[in-house]
Amino acid sequence: MKIEFNNKLVVVTGGAGGIGMVCAKNFLEAGAKVAIIDISSEAIENTEKELSQIGEIKGYVLDISKVEAIGATVSKIREDMGEIEILIQTAGLLRGGKGLEIDKDAWDLMMNINTRGMFFVMQEVIKQSMKNSGGSIVNFASMAGIRGMNAAMASAHYSASKGAVVSMTMQAAVEWAEYRVRVNAVAPGGVKTKAMANMEFHKTAFDPIPLKKLSEPQDIANSVVFLASDKAAMITGQTLVIDGGSSIVGY
Ligand SMILES: NC(=O)c1ccc[n+]([C@@H]2O[C@H](COP(=O)([O-])OP(=O)(O)OC[C@H]3O[C@@H](n4cnc5c(N)ncnc54)[C@H](O)[C@@H]3O)[C@@H](O)[C@H]2O)c1
Repeated sequence: MKIEFNNKLVVVTGGAGGIGMVCAKNFLEAGAKVAIIDISSEAIENTEKELSQIGEIKGYVLDISKVEAIGATVSKIREDMGEIEILIQTAGLLRGGKGLEIDKDAWDLMMNINTRGMFFVMQEVIKQSMKNSGGSIVNFASMAGIRGMNAAMASAHYSASKGAVVSMTMQAAVEWAEYRVRVNAVAPGGVKTKAMANMEFHKTAFDPIPLKKLSEPQDIANSVVFLASDKAAMITGQTLVIDGGSSIVGY
């Protein structure tokens, strides 16, 4: 089975980040054009430099929590690169921490990026492009959005923001099916991004994971490319858990 995107335009939010960049690379390798949206102009520049040999990639600086700026960025992408057929939403804040220490500003920031920002990016892309031509969306949830985790790995505000991604993905899939738009999510467990590369893990750290290791960013990108493609034509509203089996283990 070969997945080929034939010059389709894919937008990847957080596309200059650990997992987003690997997703962008995979879409380019499969023949897509890619627009990345990220808050960090420096990271965008590095990503463009690294991936532009593979295919057409352009970066757009946007803080998705500033929802009033989303429309103009989506318009600019369409003007520069064409209609958006695939949207991958990896942009997000990752925070562990104890519930008693979460203050109100930290709560709002988390929800404004991971949930509110994600929703209004979807809404704008549907309004401007997908309502007319159909499409496919993959949102990043997390294992923290479907089960409790150690406070080092998650936090009440992070988990709440990701649980909301699971539920809004289902509702979006129901409502936007009439426009031939599929909406799915992925829920990774721990992923070995560059940010984790220098972390030392105790030899028992992976005991609770049946497959005994963390995912590589490539493991996540493989599922994202499949869900976004026509090979997943009958899959919508689902959250695919990618966690080496850790969420199925009970005591
Ligand atoms: N890394 C993991 O172990 C893991 C596990 C489960 C879920 N996830 C989810 O996967 C996604 C990607 O994670 P990652 O490890 O690549 O993280 P990362 O921090 O490397 O990448 C996130 C990217 O989002 C961008 N971003 C942050 N706030 C933004 C904003 N307001 N507007 C636009 N861009 C913004 C960052 O600049 C960064 O490039 C996140 O949604 C995260 O919650 C990650």
